[in-house]
Amino acid sequence: MSNTVEPLVWDKRYAIGVDRIDREHESLFANYNVFVQSTQNAGDATAVKFGIDLLTNYAANHFANEESVMRAANFPELRTHIVEHERFLDELSRMKNAFSAGEPVYDAVCTFYRTWLTNHITINDRKLGAFVYGLGG
Ligand SMILES: [Fe+2]
Ligand SMILES: [Fe+2]
Repeated sequence: MSNTVEPLVWDKRYAIGVDRIDREHESLFANYNVFVQSTQNAGDATAVKFGIDLLTNYAANHFANEESVMRAANFPELRTHIVEHERFLDELSRMKNAFSAGEPVYDAVCTFYRTWLTNHITINDRKLGAFVYGLGG
């Protein structure tokens, strides 16, 4: 097992202040930990592919929910935010295909998911919380 597959631990640093979104982000962390636990390494190809699908599907569902919250709030950076979400899903899809083709991308999947998610939440999603609070005074 590589060093890249450490658990993702939720704490208040990742809170953006919009309850529904924060709960979904916690689930995105939990899903990752289940994925890592259930695969451990790239040895079980079926489990890895199934796990990547689950990670992708939950993320896609979360993105749709988050975008609808942004739309309802008239969040000004919605368009660029949607592009960020699409890039994440495209990259996971590309990695899954690479894995299916026998490329050793398991560690890269873990690293990409962790890094993208923590950066995206703390930099991009946080702007939504700041915007909503700004509107609410
Ligand atoms: Fe987002
Ligand atoms: Fe998000």
